[in-house]
Amino acid sequence: MYNINIDKKYNIYIEEDFYNFKKFLKKDNINYNNLVIITDDNVCKYYLDTIKSIFIEEKVYSYIIKSGEQSKNLNEIYNIYQFLLNNNIDRKSLIIALGGGVVGDIAGFVAATYMRGIKFIQIPTSLLAQVDSSIGGKTGVDFLNKKNIIGSFYNPSLVYINITTLKTLPKEHFENGMAEVIKHGYILDKEYLDFILYKKEKIKNLDKDTLLQMIYKSCKIKANIVCIDEKEKGIREILNFGHTFGHSIETESNFNMLHGESVAMGIIASMYISYIYGYITKEHIQQAKDILSYFNIYNKQNFNIDNIYKNMLYDKKNDNKKIKIIMLRNIGKAFSTDEISEETIKDAIKYSLEG
Ligand SMILES: NC(=O)c1ccc[n+]([C@@H]2O[C@H](COP(=O)([O-])OP(=O)(O)OC[C@H]3O[C@@H](n4cnc5c(N)ncnc54)[C@H](O)[C@@H]3O)[C@@H](O)[C@H]2O)c1
Repeated sequence: MYNINIDKKYNIYIEEDFYNFKKFLKKDNINYNNLVIITDDNVCKYYLDTIKSIFIEEKVYSYIIKSGEQSKNLNEIYNIYQFLLNNNIDRKSLIIALGGGVVGDIAGFVAATYMRGIKFIQIPTSLLAQVDSSIGGKTGVDFLNKKNIIGSFYNPSLVYINITTLKTLPKEHFENGMAEVIKHGYILDKEYLDFILYKKEKIKNLDKDTLLQMIYKSCKIKANIVCIDEKEKGIREILNFGHTFGHSIETESNFNMLHGESVAMGIIASMYISYIYGYITKEHIQQAKDILSYFNIYNKQNFNIDNIYKNMLYDKKNDNKKIKIIMLRNIGKAFSTDEISEETIKDAIKYSLEG
């Protein structure tokens, strides 16, 4: 239905079923000796047999991880390497990541490192994975309580999005993904933000045509950025809008908050700073609060502001211990700065926590 080509490197296909999956593999010359599906214990219940049935005449290996962030560690990677070796999976094999961002990051990291790199493709099944993590080649795992601290850039050979998989995604995970969708509007595309505001009910009701358009537009925004700046040396930074605050709030909540909820708070904090600098109005912030609350990802919280500030000092995206903040010069125009004072950052945290 929709197709985006990333820098002539790989295609993203956005469809409403799995019908064309094999056809696109052939079209994009993705050949393989063996097929290995990596998925999790939720997603496998719904989609593993369907994907296997597409390759009915071939031997398909599958490796199922326990769902959730706790699987994103080097022990799991060790176990997958062992599984691949025990089954004589060679370097001409293909790994299929079938699942959300956790599966995608793990499978991508295995593909990047097993036998110095074998092909992999992404079938993202969560909203976050469809609009964000499956695109751009970041792979990796957590280590010593630090998120995504071990990893590599490694592109998939193809991304196949079947939007109908969102029907089985738990509601809170759909809402979680909406934080990234809304972020895309704020950082780069006011028209897209207006589309989300206007179509919010249809989005919530998982209206097929609206989801197709929404996911296509979000993928296009992310794809455009990673095409210009694959290794995050410049403009790709703006994708971190709300994330420096967000990661820190998520840590302070002991990971009891969903990533999208903490990013939503971060978006409000970043917008508050943009308001203080005179770039946007209070009405803009209210509009953001309204749309984030509509998707149940923005709520009042009671955390220690100093702790949140301290966590921000250790964000891995900072240079020379200066906190990097993504701000808005206008709606749809983001930029990065490390010139914001401690006092203003703390005020922004307070404002965002107060709801
Ligand atoms: N590589 C990147 O560029 C990038 C970007 C953003 C986030 N991430 C990573 O992504 C991860 C979060 O991804 P996520 O939010 O998709 O979490 P997730 O992979 O844990 O998926 C969320 C939950 O939904 C379930 N699920 C997924 N799809 C489903 C479906 N269609 N039907 C039923 N259940 C389904 C999963 O089993 C899981 O329980 C984090 O580890 C984060 O670090 C990576």
